[in-house]
Amino acid sequence: MSAPGTTRVEVLGAGIVGLSLAEELLRRGHDVRVIDPAPARGASWAAAGMLTPAAEVWHDEPALLDLGRRSLALWPAYAERLGVALRLEGTLLVGRDAADLQEVERQAALVRRLGGRVEELDPRGLRGLEPTLSGRVLGGVLLPDDPSIDPRRVLAALLERVPVQPVPTPGWAEVTVLATGATPLPAAYAERAGLPPGCVRGVRGEVLRARSDDPPARTVRGWVRGRAVYVVPRAGGEVVIGATSEEHDSPPVVTLGGVHALLEAARELLPGLDRAELLEALARDRPGTPDGLPLVGPTRDPGLVLATGHFRHGVLLAPLTAELVADHLETGRVDPATDPRRLRPLLENR
Ligand code: GLY
Repeated sequence: MSAPGTTRVEVLGAGIVGLSLAEELLRRGHDVRVIDPAPARGASWAAAGMLTPAAEVWHDEPALLDLGRRSLALWPAYAERLGVALRLEGTLLVGRDAADLQEVERQAALVRRLGGRVEELDPRGLRGLEPTLSGRVLGGVLLPDDPSIDPRRVLAALLERVPVQPVPTPGWAEVTVLATGATPLPAAYAERAGLPPGCVRGVRGEVLRARSDDPPARTVRGWVRGRAVYVVPRAGGEVVIGATSEEHDSPPVVTLGGVHALLEAARELLPGLDRAELLEALARDRPGTPDGLPLVGPTRDPGLVLATGHFRHGVLLAPLTAELVADHLETGRVDPATDPRRLRPLLENR
């Protein structure tokens, strides 16, 4: 028996989303167990940690931007509570040639239209801010409100606070939260939740990590002859270079083509990376959804709640998802933007 007001919650998935919501539920006094045979080694382990609601909204996606901004507003207090520092230098959007610069302008116009701050930079201002940029980069803008965080430090802090076990204890949980990201759900859970195939699909991302003597001071997102790339600095000279984006149903592996594409683009923006030590190459699947929005809320089974489908935004949206799930369990409230039931007509009409 649970104490009054306390629910026994089992969370499947110890990525940043599952661990964050488990930590929130524990803080609120619930009894929580997280289940994962390989905690913190999925997409969150590969994530660059850009908290970029504006820079990651590629198509006019006001609902996603709104979720991103609400979650970004939670990050400073969340990071402080976990004892992990945010990098607050902002994000540069840069273009290598004239067509790439048009992408920057298009993105900057979108950010402005949606009410975000964009600082224009002339070539001198750009190089003053980021002297490591190649002289061949044609131009760029600064998004001063888009910080970053090291997801591995966040995961480590969460794992200190949240108990994780490899397999569920049968019959223990009153509610199960599925925070399994792009990992296919066991058939029994998918059946109980009434989730049709195609609800969540894997979108492959390949990522490199390197250590540089000459890292950029802030996140650099660029276009190089039409290819998008980002370089995110960490403490100690480490940089994360990402990411490819491809739909796949084969297991995620690092490909020579992926590594080549990332290196070619990143080195054109930041030639100093040539001297960097390669530390790691990783491939993980992002959990994509048909409408690009996460699935956070109820299923047809009252004992089964979803917290998945965060696509490129799992790190950014983790604290908001934690609140949404905890509020839902306590009050029944559901955010219409993330309500999984919205997908039923969309998927039935395919
Ligand atoms: N959020 C960055 C990525 O998914 O590549």
